[in-house]
Amino acid sequence: MDKLTLIRPDDWHLHVRNGEMLRQVINHTARQFARAIIMPNLKPPVTTVEHALAYRNEILAALAPDSNFNPLMTLYLTDNTRITDIEAVAQSEQIIALKLYPAGATTNSDAGISALEKAFPVLEAMQKYDIPLLIHGEVTASEYDIFDRERLFLEQKLCVLTEKFPDLRIVLEHVTTEEAVHFVETASRHVAATITPQHLLFNRNAILAGGIRPHYYCLPVLKREKHRVALIKAATSGNPKFFLGTDSAPHPTHLKENSCGCAGCYSAHAAIELYAEAFAQENALNKLEGFASLHGPDFYRLPRNQDRITLIRESWRVPEHYGQGTLQITPLQAGEEIRWKLQ
Ligand code: NCD
Ligand code: ZN
Repeated sequence: MDKLTLIRPDDWHLHVRNGEMLRQVINHTARQFARAIIMPNLKPPVTTVEHALAYRNEILAALAPDSNFNPLMTLYLTDNTRITDIEAVAQSEQIIALKLYPAGATTNSDAGISALEKAFPVLEAMQKYDIPLLIHGEVTASEYDIFDRERLFLEQKLCVLTEKFPDLRIVLEHVTTEEAVHFVETASRHVAATITPQHLLFNRNAILAGGIRPHYYCLPVLKREKHRVALIKAATSGNPKFFLGTDSAPHPTHLKENSCGCAGCYSAHAAIELYAEAFAQENALNKLEGFASLHGPDFYRLPRNQDRITLIRESWRVPEHYGQGTLQITPLQAGEEIRWKLQ
């Protein structure tokens, strides 16, 4: 197969920041995807409907003039989120979910939930209004090994949530382990998961073997090869519980190449091409459309897109950088060849 046409995909997990960085990155996403769920971990976090709508307007203003891209917004669940906030989200077409970060789990997550029980009344309201909860699934206490944090979250936290709120729709974001795949497969139809391109393409050697490569460092961190294999299996299985979410998370190069480098891989420059690469390695390109374009809208109960994109088998070299100065970003696979190209 040298040419692949798909219903236009959506990105169900994306960070675009704001200000100058937003203007630099947003059109990479908008040229491939019709919609994206925009994560709320700005400084300060997006916790109110007013803030989310203002942020959405900032994103729309940063788009190329001919773009039809539709940003779908989220609120950041904090210890101070009120039932009235949930009622306001239920009334909004532009805000479609809330994001749960355990406090301290990742970039800009200090405002996250300090104890799950504190959120129970709000989760009850989300279940009632059928608003999806998007979860960064890692425990955060410093005694836990970083490679175990996702598995422990399933065992200690997520099983409590799915039992207490059986009708709450949940997306376990950016799954990275075979345990998470198994949890989602065996949970109710209300539980789904996104998978990033880096977790399909690389294992933890990419960060640590032969030198430290900070541009492969994200959270949850890349895991062993057996976990990558489990993720590939899930993504190419045709199971509608698994869909595309890049978790593209731009950080300036100087903050990645640092004695304490930030977590996050920038993949928006080549997102659908990177997924095509991963599916092609598995001889499963025929499963890409379901994963990238169908399962997500079906889970969120949104219409599937009408138009199509075409990928051709043609190698191109990823630039070493995008942008300049303090805004310079080093993209995933900088300087490497990618064998699929968006037409
Ligand atoms: C994300 C970011 O930089 O905002 N980083 C990451 O490593 N994935 C936050 C997140 O989704 O964890
Ligand atoms: Zn993320």
